[in-house]
Amino acid sequence: MKKSSIVIAGGGSTFTPGIVLMLLKHSDRFPIRQIKFYDNDAERQKKIAEACKILLAERAPEIAFSYTTDPEEAFTDVDFVMAHIRVGKYAMREKDEKIPMRHGVFGQETCGPGGIAYGMRSIGGVLEILDYMEKYSPKAWMLNYSNPAAIVAEATRRLRPDSRIINICDMPVGIEERMAEILKLPNGRKDMEVRYYGLNHFGWWCDIRDKQGHDLMPQIKAHVKEHGYVVNPNDKNVEASWQDTFAKAKDVYAVDPDTLPNTYLKYYLYPDYVFQHDNEHPDHTRANEVMEHREKHVFAAAKDIVDKGTAKDCAFEADDHASYIVDLAEAITTNQKARMLLIVENNGAIANFDPTAMVEIPCIVGANGYEKISIGKIPQFQKGLMEQQVSVEKLVVDAWINGSYQKLWQALTLSKTVPSASVAKAILDDLIEANKAYWPELH
Ligand code: NAD
Ligand code: G6P
Ligand code: MN
Repeated sequence: MKKSSIVIAGGGSTFTPGIVLMLLKHSDRFPIRQIKFYDNDAERQKKIAEACKILLAERAPEIAFSYTTDPEEAFTDVDFVMAHIRVGKYAMREKDEKIPMRHGVFGQETCGPGGIAYGMRSIGGVLEILDYMEKYSPKAWMLNYSNPAAIVAEATRRLRPDSRIINICDMPVGIEERMAEILKLPNGRKDMEVRYYGLNHFGWWCDIRDKQGHDLMPQIKAHVKEHGYVVNPNDKNVEASWQDTFAKAKDVYAVDPDTLPNTYLKYYLYPDYVFQHDNEHPDHTRANEVMEHREKHVFAAAKDIVDKGTAKDCAFEADDHASYIVDLAEAITTNQKARMLLIVENNGAIANFDPTAMVEIPCIVGANGYEKISIGKIPQFQKGLMEQQVSVEKLVVDAWINGSYQKLWQALTLSKTVPSASVAKAILDDLIEANKAYWPELH
């Protein structure tokens, strides 16, 4: 069997160790000959990489491992670029979340003004990595998690139309695992076949069946109607803020009981609620939580491995996030024809929606990349919401390409999360000030 070479871009990410563990777990079906890390922050990456070096030497000494900040070294001789960079890191995420709050609008990593600000930072960083890949390993695939995936996907569609990038999200996978738990399916979400459509962080399931074709929607709906996607309210492994989001899915579902919603729709359907809820602790947002929990935990686990010189009882963990990207690489390598949700150009897959929109739909994945599954026509409610949101995403990319203040003001004004053009302008002016080091100059 062919052995693959992989570079993880954003080597210093909190999700890097999980992907390494998952690559090892899949190694009988998807063998690896080389793993490299690439990051533009040498110090941050080193902490994770030195721990992974020890782990790999113990568990898979046959895999060559290295890490670097040099693009040529990183991107030469690779089959896959697994990318999860965060341009501006958590310090800028914190600003994305706190600045809109000063103007009465919630702040969030990928939705509303925070997501728009993050998009303006991410586009350049992701394009740079894609260009390195095309220069040094033109046959490779870039599997991209870097957020905000919707805006990044629109930017790469527009600016690098022929490039081999596939944009993905782990949220539907995470929710499907919860559905599988509700249904008590023995093999988890892989026992289900789903039809899903929307934009990234903005979609709905319209059909879910078991492998024999039995409709599973009624049983899931009955649960969601009462509990949202909460499976165990006392689960200590689920942080309180995520538990709130899974519970709020009950109210999101109530707006359209024909479908099952992505949890991110709470930001668009209940922005007033989210603002009031978050405004109870305006100085302590999700970015602070992540720095106090996930980042601390992962970097402490890495330090522990390095201090002890062994990864024997290490605290690194691999989850849905890691399994999804490794499943995707495996499906391409082994020509598996696996059915997976990807963010792709619509081009008729959703019949009554903008053909140039980047939509999240099921695709069949194999050696040639992906083939889209046709969704047909979608209902007016979803179509209306999606038209507004996709226009926001397109205007952000227009603003980035043209350095246009006007387009970005329009993007913020059009966002369903912002009440007026004057609020949009006030937020924009603060975001420009905060993002001077990252955004193109706007005029
Ligand atoms: P993190 O800050 O821990 O890691 C990001 C890394 O990227 C850092 O080490 C940083 O130095 C590096 N980086 C930043 N800009 C770079 C550049 N231009 N070139 C190379 N490296 C660069 O962040 P995290 O919380 O681990 O998340 C990583 C990314 O994955 C984020 O974009 C996050 O939104 C995304 N993510 C996406 C999904 C999804 O569903 N698509 C799921 C989880 C996380
Ligand atoms: C889900 C989404 C990602 C997002 C992440 C935020 O996994 O699919 O796109 O980045 O949640 O999680 P966090 O723990 O960083 O708030
Ligand atoms: Mn996502």
